[in-house]
Amino acid sequence: MSKLWGGRFAQSPEEWVEEFNASIGFDQQLVMEDLQGSVAHVTMLGECGILSAEEVHEILGGLAVLKEKALNGELEYSVVNEDIHLNLEHFLIKEIGQVGGKLHTGRSRNDQVATDMHLYLKARVKDIQVLIRAVQGALTKQAEAHVETVLPGYTHLQRAQPISFAHHLLAYFWMLERDYQRFEDSMKRIDLSPLGAGALAGTTFPIDRERSAELLGFSGIYENSMDAVSDRDFIVEFLSNASMTIVHLSRLAEELIIWSSQEFQFIELSDAFSTGSSIMPQKKNPDMAELVRGKTGRVFGHLVSLLTVLKGLPLAYNKDMQEDKEGMFDTVHTLMGSLKIFTGMIDSMKVNEERLKQVVNEDFSNATELADYLATKGVPFREAHEIVGKLVLVCIGQGNYLKDLPLRTFQEASILIEEDIYYILNPVQAVKRRESAGGTGFIQVAKQLDKAKEWLATK
Ligand code: ARG
Repeated sequence: MSKLWGGRFAQSPEEWVEEFNASIGFDQQLVMEDLQGSVAHVTMLGECGILSAEEVHEILGGLAVLKEKALNGELEYSVVNEDIHLNLEHFLIKEIGQVGGKLHTGRSRNDQVATDMHLYLKARVKDIQVLIRAVQGALTKQAEAHVETVLPGYTHLQRAQPISFAHHLLAYFWMLERDYQRFEDSMKRIDLSPLGAGALAGTTFPIDRERSAELLGFSGIYENSMDAVSDRDFIVEFLSNASMTIVHLSRLAEELIIWSSQEFQFIELSDAFSTGSSIMPQKKNPDMAELVRGKTGRVFGHLVSLLTVLKGLPLAYNKDMQEDKEGMFDTVHTLMGSLKIFTGMIDSMKVNEERLKQVVNEDFSNATELADYLATKGVPFREAHEIVGKLVLVCIGQGNYLKDLPLRTFQEASILIEEDIYYILNPVQAVKRRESAGGTGFIQVAKQLDKAKEWLATK
């Protein structure tokens, strides 16, 4: 089969070389975007008088047939035609004859491929944003049910201070909100049209780039044709935003895995998001959470991979840039899959309230309460810290907790301690008192929840 660019070649590459060169195996995912770009380009060529109305009509007819065939899975792609762009051009010429060859007037595959990827990411980022909102919705729903469910908060994975379960979940709501906003902001840079930049230098044809951009729904055009065909920042930025998002999911995955272990038993994941063991009949494994945690590896990999591809490239297009696609596609699929899994997993998890009630009464995460109590009564905080530390040591020696100490022991440590200390040490009261802005106090958490719901409803 002769090449669409075969004019100056005396010899064709061997099949295995063609296979190495080809991107059709993966860039066929851009088929709809490529057809959309061609429709806009040829429409603009007609409006600018570069092609006749008749020619435009025939080409648009051919493109419509190709779209239909693509939707029905009837296009038989071939590595001989290298990539999605040349495959489609080949099909078009087969469909409508030589006039199909006019489609590529004033255009290059370099601006064409860049246009396709802008269109692709623009749509996928919107899909991803919807999925982020869904995870936020599931977090909010669980938070709403657990404002007054108290669990130990940790630092260094050591019990620190008791907190509201909703507060813990909402921390992830805000992380995901920043991810959402980062994607939103990146849209300014994705929403630009490179079409009409040509191979690198623009074109001699009197094209109207604004018009093709408008037809494609872009809000603007690249100002510099060389930048337009060389820019892959928008993909790097996407990969970076995706990396950040999956980091957040992965941290939450880690918590769900820990919380659902027999040692913790804070939550139970639904059977629908767990799997069993082929040998140990008792097992219920949090595989979905683990997989999301594991998939961060490939997403970071794609980010580093593309940065590396770009770092030494001179302007303008170089074939190295064909390596921008697989990582981008994989990241889109991985992130969308992970977000969907998380929505279901969070939505269906059960919080083990009985167990949490017991757990928060069997630790020293109320030690700060006693120190604060003494400080409120005028003891310098450092001194209060020392007094409480010693009482903790007494408890460790006896195998009990602060609440179990008799008032006498407290008063031996400090005469300022009175009967009300037992109320102060209660973990639920400890949470309730933390009403500083953004704190875990129930009133603060309820306010936070309202704000979260507002974001979900309006933004
Ligand atoms: N398949 C190529 C890519 O993905 C399309 C652009 C090819 N341009 C070129 N001048 N060879 O990068």
